[in-house]
Amino acid sequence: MFEGEKVRLRSFELSDLDAIMEHWNDLETRHNSGRATPDSRQEREEFIRNSWKLRSEGKAYIFAIENKKTKEFLGHVSIYIQRNRARSANLGIFIYNKDHWDKGYGTDAMKVILNFGFNYQNLHRMDLGVYPTNKRAIHVYKKIGFKEVGRKREIRFMNGKYSDEIIMDILQREWRKKNE
Ligand SMILES: CC(C)(COP(=O)(O)OP(=O)(O)OC[C@H]1O[C@@H](n2cnc3c(N)ncnc32)[C@H](O)[C@@H]1OP(=O)(O)O)[C@@H](O)C(=O)NCCC(=O)NCCS
Repeated sequence: MFEGEKVRLRSFELSDLDAIMEHWNDLETRHNSGRATPDSRQEREEFIRNSWKLRSEGKAYIFAIENKKTKEFLGHVSIYIQRNRARSANLGIFIYNKDHWDKGYGTDAMKVILNFGFNYQNLHRMDLGVYPTNKRAIHVYKKIGFKEVGRKREIRFMNGKYSDEIIMDILQREWRKKNE
């Protein structure tokens, strides 16, 4: 429905479950989310059903990312509304299959979701949390216009070590200026 140069954002379908289960439980990918426990197919089905519910309630907008040309399922991008009056939301993005990284899909999906958030949901700001080791993601977020605004120190424990979480955000007016 919402399209960039390479990707389309659309509603999740239960028919996405096969593609999801192929890559979702990959440890390297999941390390980046700060949650390294496996999910069952049924849990992912609940996630999909919940994405429909949250959208209908206006609490979150969770989209599947697909390749615009081939319609291949690539991952998901989400915005959870956190403060209704201040129009503030938290953003997350995942390209599930590592073979699909570094092909421009994440950057393109980020551009599309920012346009959706600012121009269709009238959000005032969006933020996200990213781990310092996730250089690729940090590069993409900075390129799009996110700024580092702080750090939660040693909030993560993964593979025997604590690590910080970098908080980044972007305001609607900054995004408009960058895209005028
Ligand atoms: C992070 C993620 C969304 C990025 O999407 P992507 O499709 O791989 O990214 P793109 O291809 O659009 O862009 C990657 C950019 O990072 C750069 N990059 C790759 N590895 C890098 C590294 N180690 N250090 C710095 N930059 C790096 C690439 O050169 C490219 O930059 P460019 O477009 O300016 O040339 C995706 O890799 C992903 O989902 N990873 C696993 C889950 C995850 O980390 N999610 C984010 C949690 S905060």
